Amino acid sequence: MVVLDGGDALFSDATLAHRPDAELLRDRARLIARSTVHRGLDAANVGRRDLAAGLEFAAGLGTDPGVPWVSANLMRSDGSFPFPRWRTLERGGVRLLVTGVVIPDPRQDPPLGLAPLPPVEALLEVLRQALAEAPADLVVVLSTLGLPAERRLAQAVPGIQIIVGGGDRQQWVDPVVEGDTAIFHAADRGRFVGVLRLDPATLTTWRAPRTPHMRQALEDQRAALALTLARTTDPAQRQALQAQQLDLAARAARIAPPGTELAHRLVPLGPTIDDDPEVAGWVARWKQSAARQRPPVAGPPAGAPRGPRPAPAAGKPSGTYTGTGSCRPCHAAAYVAWSATPHARSYAALRGQPRAEQCLECHASRLPRAGGTSLEPIVGCEACHGPGAGHQGPGGIARSPGEDTCRRCHRGHHPDEAFVFGEDYEKVRCDRAVSRKP
Ligand code: HEC
Ligand code: HEC
Ligand code: HEC
Ligand code: HEC
Repeated sequence: MVVLDGGDALFSDATLAHRPDAELLRDRARLIARSTVHRGLDAANVGRRDLAAGLEFAAGLGTDPGVPWVSANLMRSDGSFPFPRWRTLERGGVRLLVTGVVIPDPRQDPPLGLAPLPPVEALLEVLRQALAEAPADLVVVLSTLGLPAERRLAQAVPGIQIIVGGGDRQQWVDPVVEGDTAIFHAADRGRFVGVLRLDPATLTTWRAPRTPHMRQALEDQRAALALTLARTTDPAQRQALQAQQLDLAARAARIAPPGTELAHRLVPLGPTIDDDPEVAGWVARWKQSAARQRPPVAGPPAGAPRGPRPAPAAGKPSGTYTGTGSCRPCHAAAYVAWSATPHARSYAALRGQPRAEQCLECHASRLPRAGGTSLEPIVGCEACHGPGAGHQGPGGIARSPGEDTCRRCHRGHHPDEAFVFGEDYEKVRCDRAVSRKP
């Protein structure tokens, strides 16, 4: 078995600047590193977000507990390489060459003392050097470049059999195939493990890998074409169809023989999988220390008598809200996703309305606070996630708003409204990268 990480495992943003909880997040990154190494990690790509706490921090994790980092193109400004550029692994007589690539970032790199090489150039160089030292049965590239760039990489760099993409939210059971390269993504935040079974016997004749599913699709196309041809009498049309048949046959000829397809599964790391007791202990300890480090908010001032809190006045919501601006420093990505939704512009619809106060219930958020209520001219974070005053780190806030929450406003006030909870939920999720409208 070989355990690989595509990159971006340690942090959820590319920088910790302005994060009041930076120390907590560094502790969590140490915990992730230690746990994955404990579970047998063989090679990990260095993603942009792995560098959020600085190059030295990531490199430090490389000594003890020993993250097996790899990066072909991450070069320092002085031309040296902070991490091994490739690793060779041997399992069951199969020799793997594993390397990784990261996207250069002209803003983040200079302060980190980095000047990454263009990924294609770096990979061509690494494969040339590594394969000259010793041949490999399988070449694997770990990447955080994203699918379009990975497809270009597969075209530009011959000899890569597998690309494992990390750091994005994409996930497929069947790999994306580009030429002779299979590209795998198993989504983000360690929610899934992609399990690929390879028969060593197929490696010597590796080409255009397909899953049984994709083979079937190609066979269906051939059958359909044959039927059309049988019904066609026009000579010009027949000629065109025959050319298509030849093309399909050529594609089919490039397919690996039956029985050698890639068997790939995505395994969700949910409650059905037992925790490693040792790792569970570390996580519990981190959570305790996180609870201690969390800055006290909305609690009684130090020295105040610690009795039960007075019950909220009847009819008033009991939670205390802190406003959308307070969430932004810690949740930059969620903020960007939210700001691409109509909720971030809900007030604009009221412009020029004579009785706009009747509309505020849904087109704005009321924020009951300790000292009274204020109004945000948006459907802010807390309209869905609930009051945030008790939350400054893990816990203390609702992750997934229920249908009731949406129905407070999406209740058919406008006759043409068509709200479908499941579908509309997907449109407003803050954990989905949303392309921002200009
Ligand atoms: C001081 C930093 C900080 C602030 C401020 C903050 N959060 Fe968080 N939040 C965190 C951390 C840390 C986590 C848990 C770790 C993670 O997944 O990033 C988290 C998790 C969450 C989650 C996921 C909860 C879960 O169970 O998975 C939601 C939703 C959330 N925050 C919303 C908010 C909202 C809304 C606000 C503003 C009212 C806010 N946060 C303010 C640090 C913060
Ligand atoms: C009960 C909640 C509620 C009230 C009260 C309400 N709205 Fe809305 N409004 C909504 C929701 C929900 C939508 C989104 C509907 C959809 O398209 O699915 C919406 C959408 C709209 C839109 C369309 C926005 C766009 O960009 O397409 C306009 C305009 C609008 N509202 C104006 C008003 C005005 C003016 C008032 C007050 C007179 C008002 N609304 C009161 C809930 C409400
Ligand atoms: C219209 C409702 C809505 C609003 C408004 C909203 N969110 Fe979310 N948010 C969601 C949903 C839905 C999810 C996905 C939860 C799930 O099922 O995992 C989510 C997920 C999250 C998560 C977890 C994402 C992750 O990557 O772990 C965070 C953090 C978060 N939201 C923060 C915010 C912040 C900050 C704001 C304001 C800038 C905000 N949300 C506004 C609906 C909303
Ligand atoms: C505080 C009121 C409020 C809450 C809570 C709320 N919404 Fe909305 N939502 C609105 C308003 C108002 C609009 C219209 C904004 C505009 O276009 O001006 C809207 C628009 C939308 C749209 C875009 C509709 C369209 O056709 O353009 C979607 C999708 C949506 N909401 C989903 C959700 C989901 C899912 C939830 C619950 C997780 C939710 N909303 C919770 C008030 C709310």
